[in-house]
Amino acid sequence: MEALVLTGLKKLEKQDIEKPTLKPDEVLIHTAFAGVCGTDHALYAGEPGSADAVPPIVLGHENSGVVKEIGSAVTNVKVGDRVSVDPNIYCGQCKFCHTGRPELCEHLDAVGVTRDGGFEEYFTAPASVVYPIPDNVDLKSAAIVEPISCAIHGMKLLKPSPYQKALVIGDGFMGELFVQILQAYGIHQVDLAGIVDEKLKMNKDLFNVKNTYNTAKGDKIPAGEYDVVIEAVGRPETQESAIEASARGGQVLMFGVGGPDAKFEMNTYEVFQKQLTIQGSFINPNAFEDSLALLSSGKLNVKPLMSHELTLDQVDDFVNGRLGVVSKAVVKIGGEEA
Ligand SMILES: NC(=O)c1ccc[n+]([C@@H]2O[C@H](COP(=O)([O-])OP(=O)(O)OC[C@H]3O[C@@H](n4cnc5c(N)ncnc54)[C@H](O)[C@@H]3O)[C@@H](O)[C@H]2O)c1
Ligand SMILES: [Zn+2]
Ligand SMILES: [Zn+2]
Repeated sequence: MEALVLTGLKKLEKQDIEKPTLKPDEVLIHTAFAGVCGTDHALYAGEPGSADAVPPIVLGHENSGVVKEIGSAVTNVKVGDRVSVDPNIYCGQCKFCHTGRPELCEHLDAVGVTRDGGFEEYFTAPASVVYPIPDNVDLKSAAIVEPISCAIHGMKLLKPSPYQKALVIGDGFMGELFVQILQAYGIHQVDLAGIVDEKLKMNKDLFNVKNTYNTAKGDKIPAGEYDVVIEAVGRPETQESAIEASARGGQVLMFGVGGPDAKFEMNTYEVFQKQLTIQGSFINPNAFEDSLALLSSGKLNVKPLMSHELTLDQVDDFVNGRLGVVSKAVVKIGGEEA
């Protein structure tokens, strides 16, 4: 079968490899679509994602497809089911797994990071991370349940309430997802800060954003204004803006991933005086069911955010930044016919 293999540092090769075989608790999936994101940039460049990727490995951690075979111990899906796959496989045995925080697992395994993922015709995953999708959810949307679930996990770490006013900093795909998810969680006003006018306008026109700030053009975010601030860029300057924008009693979700050595400055008195909650967020435990429910109910409209459909050959262009402004790119493998 055809696979795109990361064979070394910044080396992607199309190869003809053996179809994987199944363990009793595993599912064989004919890949429909596989999303690409910043994590793939990092893994391609030899940096860690949620874990280290050791070549040769097939990337692709945001996957959907159709079940082609199940192991003898599998009970949750059957052949022919359309599914979305949570890449993260937790050990179930460490202190973090035992205390209900599996995302912090000491032995994290991940489809498309530590084991072969969706940039190939068929891949396997343990049944425990395979989710059947509702009939009205298409396979392309199902490929991005993983990033949606990361945002949902962030929401679960906050205490959202309808009276709150929220600001999202970052007009990339994750920031755009948060715009809709904050509203789905009942927050009555969502504002957006970014650097791309068309994105800011689209979120105002389609997704009920009230105020937008193009900070690259000098727009100033009002200080002390927001009950909830989602930082979805991961740079020191936007992290500083997030703290400044938060109101008394504010909750700041530091969702963006900064460089391993990056630091940002913050006024320590402000943390005390505003009684701030500064919350980190790592990956997406126990969130797939919520994501699928939001997609199925229509509360989340992801189609306008999926800007690019790629072939396997174009993954190289994506990881080398040759595609221009990408909101979300999804690689078509088997497509809806998988
Ligand atoms: N915590 C998690 O589990 C998790 C999961 C997925 C992604 N992330 C992180 O979230 C961040 C956003 O992800 P993404 O996929 O949207 O990335 P992305 O690269 O597509 O988007 C980043 C966006 O930030 C915008 N931006 C750049 N500078 C800005 C500024 N000064 N002010 C406002 N916006 C600015 C750009 O327009 C860009 O689109 C990344 O750091 C990513 O690594 C975290
Ligand atoms: Zn991703
Ligand atoms: Zn564990």
